[in-house]
Amino acid sequence: MKDRVKRAPAQARERARPSPKEAVAEPQASEAGTRLSVRAARPADIEAVTAIDAAATGLPKPAHWLELYQRQGASVAARVIFLVATPAEQSDRVLGFIVGEIRAWEFGSAPCGWVYALSVDPGARLRGVAETLLAAIAAEFRKAGMTKMRTMVARDDRLPMMFFRSEGMMAGPYIQLEKDLE
Ligand SMILES: CC(C)(COP(=O)(O)OP(=O)(O)OC[C@H]1O[C@@H](n2cnc3c(N)ncnc32)[C@H](O)[C@@H]1OP(=O)(O)O)[C@@H](O)C(=O)NCCC(=O)NCCS
Repeated sequence: MKDRVKRAPAQARERARPSPKEAVAEPQASEAGTRLSVRAARPADIEAVTAIDAAATGLPKPAHWLELYQRQGASVAARVIFLVATPAEQSDRVLGFIVGEIRAWEFGSAPCGWVYALSVDPGARLRGVAETLLAAIAAEFRKAGMTKMRTMVARDDRLPMMFFRSEGMMAGPYIQLEKDLE
């Protein structure tokens, strides 16, 4: 999958960065000569989503992705948003996906948009796919009235940390606490 997309010069990518106000499904020129589309996931995408996730985690979990797909729009208070990025001219070819959820009053915090999963096909990385997906889900959160977007990353996982930091996400006001139960 190395021939997917060509990397653009940094300046071109900067200019092409989608505005948060742009609608999902608008093609975005994320790199010179290649346009990306972002659309809502479909059942037929689950296989590609599972493969992309498994390439990163080593664990195929099709039932998990299908369940998230089915939870989309289940309720306003806990609304799942599941988007995929494809080449604009090939809408069945999934390059990456993002899943987020609007969660209300979780741990007492005001409703906000959570990015729950984000992964890009190893053959399509470093070409702005994740950035385009994050901008698209941020626009969806904004449309739903959210003013804050959150995610969680493992402390020692540098790649997602570098990605989210590059997108302007910073340490938030909460810390996670845990305890072994065995
Ligand atoms: C993290 C991930 C989603 C990034 O996807 P991507 O499409 O390659 O990212 P983008 O091309 O949109 O990168 C945007 C910015 O993130 C940063 N970034 C992305 N990958 C990077 C890397 N390997 N090293 C350093 N910085 C990186 C850069 O600042 C980049 O901007 P630049 O290319 O202008 O320098 C992808 O590497 C991936 O799927 N990793 C495995 C799964 C994962 O870690 N998911 C995230 C947590 S759920």
